[in-house]
Amino acid sequence: MTLSQHVDAIAPHGGTLINRIATPEQKQEFLEKAAVLPCVQLDERAFSDLVMIAIGGFSPLTGFMEEADYTRVVNEMYLANGLPWSIPITLSVTEAEAAPLKEGMWVRLNDAAGRFVGVLQLTQKYRYDKMHEALHVYRTNEEKHPGVAVVYQQGDINLAGPVWLLEREPDPRFPTYQIDPVESRALFREKGWKTIVGFQTRNPIHRAHEYIIKCAMEIVDGLFLHPLVGATKEDDIPADVRMRCYEIMLEHYFPKDRVILAINPAAMRYAGPREAIFHALVRKNYGCTHFIVGRDHAGVGDYYGTYDAQYIFDEFKPEDLGITPLKFEHAFYCTRTQSMATTKTSPSSPEERIHLSGTKVRALLRNGELPPPEFSRPEVAAELARVMRVPAQV
Ligand code: ADX
Repeated sequence: MTLSQHVDAIAPHGGTLINRIATPEQKQEFLEKAAVLPCVQLDERAFSDLVMIAIGGFSPLTGFMEEADYTRVVNEMYLANGLPWSIPITLSVTEAEAAPLKEGMWVRLNDAAGRFVGVLQLTQKYRYDKMHEALHVYRTNEEKHPGVAVVYQQGDINLAGPVWLLEREPDPRFPTYQIDPVESRALFREKGWKTIVGFQTRNPIHRAHEYIIKCAMEIVDGLFLHPLVGATKEDDIPADVRMRCYEIMLEHYFPKDRVILAINPAAMRYAGPREAIFHALVRKNYGCTHFIVGRDHAGVGDYYGTYDAQYIFDEFKPEDLGITPLKFEHAFYCTRTQSMATTKTSPSSPEERIHLSGTKVRALLRNGELPPPEFSRPEVAAELARVMRVPAQV
């Protein structure tokens, strides 16, 4: 084995992979203190943020953002230290919840079920402007945008400071796919992969996904298939169904030795372009050198232009981001060439293109129809039909 095989293909964002999982001694200390600490309850998103910070997925963050980071991230897409960062990571509480908390205090963090899951060393409490955050991060102040709705519903005060996760527990839904950054990096080293492409998704895999993933796989050593399984909006397909679709695809349509399937525990923000940068930085922390950005990445409704999530990468110096975006045009099934394509590779006229999207598939399933083979592989369509109680045709 050569020396280079021991070296990660890419450094984490900021140079160091953060680990904020309490050691057994720290855990013991926190447990002893727990009864006397003031307590804050985390919602699903805040809990997943705590986990992402702790496992290094959000490196270089070591906690919820202080005002200097928050302001610069919202206004300029940089942390106070000058590193690119596009999404605020905050813990918001109501005034009543914040009132008894004093800066310098240790705060016990409970999950939604009331379990003691972490500790915050409170360094700052600050007010923030929700409308300003919405307009900058989400490019809209409309409450019907699901990301903006979360901002409007949360408390008015941000609590900031370093955090510790009490224990890294396996996700009971997908224990075998819980591969944290330290492990994904080790796996990539073990496999000798020098170039790894990350793929973000929150939808059941369809043929346009498969097409752009495989185009990317042609030019890298391996694929890190990294579906998001944290909080999503109500009408998105549940994560367990999506994971089964990925398993089916790996079984039938991918060379298994060139793919690692793992869960991304983070919550979806639907912030389109800003979230594409964020998604790329998170995958850099997992050890990916490349990241796929297709059409309307992390978009919702028609808040963002089809390629806005690609253009935003031009606002950064490539060396500051560190991870290389692989940008793909809107892929469709071309009836003339009878294959998946984009306008870059197909001579088709518009009527020869079958355009599909996750939104369309959800609509078909809701109407009791199966997605056609130009859209979904039949085994995936059958699984979706089974779950959504549509009569299967395969
Ligand atoms: S996302 O919210 O996670 O971006 P989705 O799971 O639909 O949603 O998309 C995953 C990735 O595939 C994104 O990079 C997206 O841009 C890309 N993508 C989805 N559909 C297409 C398509 N028809 N053509 C090109 N890229 C696509």
